[in-house]
Amino acid sequence: MDVIPTGRAAGAEITGVDLAGDLTPETLAAIEAAFDAHGVVFFRGQTITPIQQVAFTRHFGEIAFNVFGERWSVPGAPEIVVVSNVQENGEPVGLVRAGERWHSDMVYTATPPRGTMLHAIEVPELDGLPLGDTMFANAAAAWDALPAAMQQRLEDKVGIFDFLGRKRSIPVTEDEARRHPPVRHPIVRRHPRTGRRSLYIMRDDCTGIEGMESDEAAMLIEALAEHITRPEFIYRHCWRPGDVLLWDNCTVQHKAVIDYDLPLRRLMHRTTMGAAPTM
Ligand SMILES: [Fe+2]
Repeated sequence: MDVIPTGRAAGAEITGVDLAGDLTPETLAAIEAAFDAHGVVFFRGQTITPIQQVAFTRHFGEIAFNVFGERWSVPGAPEIVVVSNVQENGEPVGLVRAGERWHSDMVYTATPPRGTMLHAIEVPELDGLPLGDTMFANAAAAWDALPAAMQQRLEDKVGIFDFLGRKRSIPVTEDEARRHPPVRHPIVRRHPRTGRRSLYIMRDDCTGIEGMESDEAAMLIEALAEHITRPEFIYRHCWRPGDVLLWDNCTVQHKAVIDYDLPLRRLMHRTTMGAAPTM
């Protein structure tokens, strides 16, 4: 097994591993170490079943269920959410237009997931050019780059994260809204395994900062969201069918690039890792 950093602010490719086979404890430990170090890791050319994807995800913690996933799971594998623009009989087969804005998954829950995994099954392509990339921003590198005075100002601040703060691509039912009251998280997170700090703040989801006037908080949220997504903190993943990619929701934020439409098809299987504490 080799770990090849992308050379960008985040991400590494792992080669020499067949995720359909049995992985030794040593291999799993090495994958986990690369995951902790790079925030995003990916494997090319994999052929895995939904069951194998679920089993691999479980190495990183018990599976978390996503509120939207309940509507689009794979038959026989309720842990998998179909993310796709494909339609059958006029009906979407999966979650369409997921994650168009910068975010970290499920910040609106008290215990957001450690990470998320995508298995690319169909990748849209135009004249040989793959479309539908995913962008990742390294929020730990963004924290490191802040001036010390700003770091001091932010340390110990607590953000309010509201499920209803963001306009979502699909309507939220009253029941879903009731199940997700606003939650609090530190806006400077410590990685639960490495201790590395990262900025945990984004537009829309983060609606306020405790102890701060709302105008001041709004300006600070805007400025930090802009800072985190500066080009030097970005890795942009260009998908190939057979990719299995996982990201760390503490270290990176992500955003889907929606630059394709039917008849170009995109089909992904997503699994979500169990909770990581937001310290
Ligand atoms: Fe997402």
